[in-house]
Amino acid sequence: MTQSATLSRRETWSLLVLVGASLGVIVNTFQGDGEPLIVSIAFSGIAYAATFSLIRWLGPVFMKAGLKGKDMAKARKPEIPETMGAVCAVVYLLLLIIFIPFPFYKDIVAATSGGGNRDVVLQAQQVETGRYLHRFPHSKLASYLSGLLSLQSIVILGIGDDLLDIRWRHKVLIPAFGAIPMLIVYFVDFGVTQVVVPLPLQRYLGPIVDLGWLYYVYMAAVAIFCPNGINMLAGINGVEVAQSLVIALLLIVNDSLYLAPFTPYPHPATDSHLFSIYFLLPFVGVSLALLYHNWYPSKVFVGDTYCYFAGMVFAVVGILGHFSKTLLLLFIPQIFNFLYSTPQLFRIIPCPRHRLPKFNASTGLLDASVTEWAVPPPRPVAMALELLHRLRLARVTKNEKGEIMESTNLTILNLWLLWMGPMKEEKLAWSMVAVQTVCGLLGLFVRHRLALLVFREDNLAFGSHM
Ligand code: UD1
Ligand code: MG
Repeated sequence: MTQSATLSRRETWSLLVLVGASLGVIVNTFQGDGEPLIVSIAFSGIAYAATFSLIRWLGPVFMKAGLKGKDMAKARKPEIPETMGAVCAVVYLLLLIIFIPFPFYKDIVAATSGGGNRDVVLQAQQVETGRYLHRFPHSKLASYLSGLLSLQSIVILGIGDDLLDIRWRHKVLIPAFGAIPMLIVYFVDFGVTQVVVPLPLQRYLGPIVDLGWLYYVYMAAVAIFCPNGINMLAGINGVEVAQSLVIALLLIVNDSLYLAPFTPYPHPATDSHLFSIYFLLPFVGVSLALLYHNWYPSKVFVGDTYCYFAGMVFAVVGILGHFSKTLLLLFIPQIFNFLYSTPQLFRIIPCPRHRLPKFNASTGLLDASVTEWAVPPPRPVAMALELLHRLRLARVTKNEKGEIMESTNLTILNLWLLWMGPMKEEKLAWSMVAVQTVCGLLGLFVRHRLALLVFREDNLAFGSHM
């Protein structure tokens, strides 16, 4: 579905009001302490307005540059602009750069105008340069900047992928490069590689195990998984952005639990959760604007850039905010989708270029798509497929000789269609939103309640990292 590249009068005015209100809020905070959380919310408003307008204006420009894709689940398979995630990412990165002074405002004031400040009571010391310096939180700034650098790298690599359509076995490793800056800052500044051992295992391993360099391998794996996990749960209108928004909102809920008034200030983890919120709020802003255009029926596609970018935002906040295990609990559908896909990823079962559900033009509904076996599968694979068929985890079609000719593509979208029957694209997208929300809430519940069964304490109350 094509649409004009201009904003309607109503849209223009609504966006202008939003930008005006956001700017007003930002200016207002200068009068007070420059409260960064409020500023971050205002920045998200600007992020939404800027992304919304730019997506609309740039659509035809992207098409002309060849950044377009066929919407496969429509009768006419219309071509629409792709890689709109790049717009989100650029707006997001610029805003995050402009935001840098705000969380450090108090420290900058204290560092540049001496210890005699009105409201900042900090030990200051005069050094030869004649400037008063107090302990400026360089490590926090480094953390923030390294997060930014990781995101910038992934966006460059993501745009490269969208332009050149890099092969799957090469592009799965793209996020590994993006992760390097933040892993180095983690190493230099935080360096904790110990993990708390669950109670039942403490008899064998002791209360804490130091994983050493393995912990870095684990974090790199998280950074590789999150972007790819989102890119693989894709292929129907809206689903990439919608799942990312659910994850982002649940992370914000989780972060809020560590802030006043939910927890007595100062909680040891407050700062890292504030850091996470500063990265997530503008992400929600740009993603909502993208979702408006990408939800069924899509007027633009998000591209791999968005999937990588979104996944990396989560990896950055999870790793630098020290809650990567909680993060993984919000990725249950993506983890399932990945594990379920492995037979195709490792080519035990053929993997076509696209595995998205198949559109049936006569009914207008989506059904599970299939991969065709040019030669019947070897015996062990045939038996495994037969078993999956019996368990209703896949569907196979046989020829008259009883050999398997077709088997469904192993993705969570196809599995849902197998269980629930063919449905409209929009309903399938809503189903995924529901799955993501239910699994995420369950994950958070496990994290904060059931964790007490296997760990001595929940850090919400006691302030240790988990
Ligand atoms: C991944 C999946 C692939 C899936 C594809 C869909 C794996 C290993 N790869 O590949 O199976 O088919 O995502 O995004 O799991 N498209 C639509 N409707 C949509 C979204 C996308 O028709 O709502 C089509 C468009 O033609 C679009 C293309 O998918 O141009 C984008 O595919 P791309 O992101 O390049 O695929 P991959 O990420 O490589
Ligand atoms: Mg993709």
